[in-house]
Amino acid sequence: MSAGAAVRPIAVIGGTGPLGMGLALRWARAGETIIIGSRDPQRAQKAAAAIQQKAGPQAQVSGMENAAACAAADILMLTVPFEGQAALLKQLKPAITEGSILIDATVPLAAGVGGRASRTLGVWQGSAAQQAAELVPKDVSVVAAFHNLSADLLNGLEDQGDAPLDCDVIVCSDDPDAAQLTRELAAKIPGVRALDGGKLENARIVEQITALLIGMNIRHKGHAGIRVTGLPPGAYR
Ligand SMILES: NC(=O)c1ccc[n+]([C@@H]2O[C@H](COP(=O)([O-])OP(=O)(O)OC[C@H]3O[C@@H](n4cnc5c(N)ncnc54)[C@H](OP(=O)(O)O)[C@@H]3O)[C@@H](O)[C@H]2O)c1
Repeated sequence: MSAGAAVRPIAVIGGTGPLGMGLALRWARAGETIIIGSRDPQRAQKAAAAIQQKAGPQAQVSGMENAAACAAADILMLTVPFEGQAALLKQLKPAITEGSILIDATVPLAAGVGGRASRTLGVWQGSAAQQAAELVPKDVSVVAAFHNLSADLLNGLEDQGDAPLDCDVIVCSDDPDAAQLTRELAAKIPGVRALDGGKLENARIVEQITALLIGMNIRHKGHAGIRVTGLPPGAYR
């Protein structure tokens, strides 16, 4: 499988938030066809227009309600807060196309239930990504990725969101083909290297790292990311 430009649209579910918009911007620039999903189609269209303006006239970006976005794509990027993840997936289940790939970036932050953003919640299944895998149709492959990227840097703080990121993306999945496609998408973001993080169960570790990075960001007023060193060149994409 390959995420060929303008062939397989990527639906970014909850794509009106900072992470979804940042990923959509970077992928639109790289030639991918993007559908921004939202609970509100007008909000989706507004976000799509903002990305289009930043990415340029050649970019292919549209916006629609989440279920319509799911139905129009078989690569789904889920970028919603943990507290909304389960209910949204239950609602979207009938709209998800057979054989789709769902890439989940959800971090189960305690902030969602009034706690600290630098702490996480225990998830019965082990991770937010494993919770997602329980809720999607059986033939949907779930991939965990993009947890450790700063949305601020993706969108650009003092630029148009075109500066390279100094960050690796660890990709976890039980489906090697879906993981490879996700690593290809990650590598389309300038500066990002994608790494095979093994099975989906390892998502619990990658999700936790984000809480640690948030704590560092609060202490140092920064936008921390991670780099994994010491692997042979072939391990990095
Ligand atoms: N921000 C980052 O730097 C970053 C980095 C790595 C990972 N993450 C993780 O990625 C996810 C998205 O992050 P974010 O900062 O972009 O999140 P966000 O701004 O809080 O939410 C993203 C979008 O999700 C939708 N949404 C909010 N509450 C919802 C609910 N209860 N049910 C359904 N949809 C809901 C909203 O879109 P509509 O109202 O338009 O539907 C919102 O714009 C989170 O799980 C976060 O922990 C974030």
